[in-house]
Amino acid sequence: MDFSISPGDPLRGEISLPGDKSISHRALMCASLANGTSNIKGFLTGEDCLTTLDIFSNMGVKIKRNDEELEIDGVGLFGLSSPNKELDFRNSGTAMRLVAGIMVGQKFPSRLVGDRSLSLRPMKRIVQPLREMGANMSCKKDGTPPIVIYPVNNKLSSFAYDLPIPSAQVKSCLMFASLYAEGPVVIKEKTQTRDHTEKMFESFKVPISISKTPYLKEITIRSNYELKARNIEIGGDFSSASFFIVAALINKDSHLIIRNVGVNETRTGLLTVLKEMGADINLSYFSNTEEPTADIEVKSSKLHAIEVDPDLIPNLIDELPIFFIAAASAEGITSIKGAEELRLKESDRLLAMSKSLGALGVKYELFQDGINIHGKGSKVLFNNSDINSFGDHRIAMASTIACTKTKGTSRIMNCDNVNTSFPNFVDTCCKVGLKVLVR
Ligand code: S3P
Repeated sequence: MDFSISPGDPLRGEISLPGDKSISHRALMCASLANGTSNIKGFLTGEDCLTTLDIFSNMGVKIKRNDEELEIDGVGLFGLSSPNKELDFRNSGTAMRLVAGIMVGQKFPSRLVGDRSLSLRPMKRIVQPLREMGANMSCKKDGTPPIVIYPVNNKLSSFAYDLPIPSAQVKSCLMFASLYAEGPVVIKEKTQTRDHTEKMFESFKVPISISKTPYLKEITIRSNYELKARNIEIGGDFSSASFFIVAALINKDSHLIIRNVGVNETRTGLLTVLKEMGADINLSYFSNTEEPTADIEVKSSKLHAIEVDPDLIPNLIDELPIFFIAAASAEGITSIKGAEELRLKESDRLLAMSKSLGALGVKYELFQDGINIHGKGSKVLFNNSDINSFGDHRIAMASTIACTKTKGTSRIMNCDNVNTSFPNFVDTCCKVGLKVLVR
């Protein structure tokens, strides 16, 4: 599937977006392991989360789906049954890494596989600490999937771990594994990553304690506690909102309101950097649930370049591709460092986005852990072009938004995977006045 984009009108109106991907995965996992029935509203029906749904259905969890609403009859921590086939996570790294933390506690073996892109992604980051906890598992010698897990006789050990990389997936994988440990598990992180699992565990009544200083967060999870079923409402995905926030900023005369978006502060680093660049963004109607949501109002803005604080990178890791487009529209050179993790996503996102920027006529210097982007300023249009998304949903969507501010029609190739995270992306583009067609 390719997208064809013509420069369009300003962005106008109000939109609501599909549910948060990270929270949808976690809600489904916790509800499946809980005792009792949980109802979930606002579940993301993108391919990644539907993959997680299939995986738990295949392990005996009864899940009724009515569009974005789920009713899940949890089977309890020890109630999953063998799917008698490999678990196929398709494109979803989050699902594979988090579910691996659950599979190490099961009394049946499992084999975790993925598509071509996922089969290239690093898994040693979870396999090594899970083995330290006593898991019997392996991945390929080069650290990639498949992951093979065998049952162990004893429970996993009590364990303390300093996260060597800022990764919410590694942290969450170990948190799920800690539910199957004989004693408490302590996880320490120096840079705060998204804390959806901490919040989800608290709401499912898992005894977890968190201590925080400016330099270290320490999470302690006590094991052998039942998760208690509950009802969950999931707000719109901030990562999906980010494409429309930047689109409204860079296209002149735009004024857009995005309703009910998740604004957990461990996810909204993009708002911090955009505001520093002079973006006109206002948040209102906050909800005060454990995962706060708000309406986001955005107006076209004249942006100026900044040096991004490397400590913020984990809080905007998924938004960096679209941030690069904001930087390309700013006045001056924006510098991003400490973003090496971008090379290990669904594609090498530093490389993929540098190619997009080049095709758009934007100058850049690429480094192993970052990039300098020479912004063209708010008035200069990008070159229209043919751009390869490398099969990566976020590269496809970021490049699409860039191409709304060009001199002519552009094409983004290989966009099927947009459906992994944002099933109605093209419809939403059209709704706000962008001219995007599927070809
Ligand atoms: C995610 C964590 C991040 C992010 C991914 C979703 C999660 O990955 O890039 O899209 O839901 O925990 P890392 O933990 O690898 O940084």
